[in-house]
Amino acid sequence: MIIPVILSGGTGSRLWPLSRELYPKQLLNLVNPDASLLQETVKRLVGFKEVEAPVVVCNEEHRFMVAEQLRQIAQPAESIILEPIGRNTAPAIAVAAHKAMQLSSEAILLVLPADHAIQKLEAFYKAILYGQQHAQQDRLVTFGIVPDRPETGYGYIKASESLGFSGHKIDCFVEKPDQTTAAGYVAEGGYFWNSGMFMFKAATYLAELQAYAVDIYNAAKQAFDDAKTDLDFLRLDKASFTACPEDSIDYAVMEKTNKGVVIPTDIGWSDVGSWRALAELHASDAHGNSQLGDVILRDTENCYLRSEKRLLAAVGVKNLVVVETDDAVLVAHKDKVQDVKKIVEELKSHQ
Ligand code: GDD
Ligand code: MG
Repeated sequence: MIIPVILSGGTGSRLWPLSRELYPKQLLNLVNPDASLLQETVKRLVGFKEVEAPVVVCNEEHRFMVAEQLRQIAQPAESIILEPIGRNTAPAIAVAAHKAMQLSSEAILLVLPADHAIQKLEAFYKAILYGQQHAQQDRLVTFGIVPDRPETGYGYIKASESLGFSGHKIDCFVEKPDQTTAAGYVAEGGYFWNSGMFMFKAATYLAELQAYAVDIYNAAKQAFDDAKTDLDFLRLDKASFTACPEDSIDYAVMEKTNKGVVIPTDIGWSDVGSWRALAELHASDAHGNSQLGDVILRDTENCYLRSEKRLLAAVGVKNLVVVETDDAVLVAHKDKVQDVKKIVEELKSHQ
């Protein structure tokens, strides 16, 4: 039994001003005008018979939006688990694992971020079926992407010997290395980016979490054991979950486990992590411009221009991202879009 676990708790601050804490990027129609990233994540699995209905883990503030978006696409979740506060991905996956164990002690989790784009569905399904083979043998499966630049926002995975079913043993997993280290990995070769999707038995993950991050294991278990059903939601116990240390699966488990497997994939993956990544997913004209909404251009090259409400006009500019919303306008150089999150941090510090 493969149970998708959809992680929908991030804030997507690099996609400000469209992505906001109360309306984060996974709930926005960012890539496809007709569906949010969360809806696309769920819809991607419809028709892939090997998987069950998903468990969605999100912040309690987003519960009605998440439920409504699933209703719109007529894809009910197995469960929507509500976090009183974000504690990053290691605890979120732990509570989903406990839920899955109630359904089957052999349940395999397919952990999927709610905010990624995947363009090659058949290759994606194939990778999941390979992943299932490894997960059944108590391994923790990652899906590797061939790096094309020394990006520091990703985990890097060094693959070693083949284990069959397209999988390789993980020699080492390094989460978000610095620029020099990342450049060294890309130059050396044999490294993959971690796509942020995982597969393992719920029981295997919980055992590894208990071994490497027992405080997270205990707090998440308590929060799940004391959770309350509220309408269609499962509300984690606030005191225990708030007391849970904050950490990602990458640092808490994947850097430490020796049961890691990487399956190299070519699935047209993007984590829609920045305005630049989003621009690459949209069709562009002969001058490299992508425009959405009410936009007029003259002598403009390689720009991403998105207007929600007002007319947006650009003349004689290059390599810019311009995003107009109701209450804020972003103008950024395409090479500096990672720093948009610094603006969000600054805005928060003024609140
Ligand atoms: N429910 C829940 N609760 N979800 C969360 C939380 C949380 O507290 N924190 C993050 N998420 C969700 C995000 O919405 C996203 O879908 C996913 O978990 C991953 O979190 P990110 O915060 O986006 O992680 P990252 O991008 O910095 O790094 C991860 O993804 C990279 C690829 O995109 C790592 O796995 C890297 O190794 C990987 O390369
Ligand atoms: Mg991410």
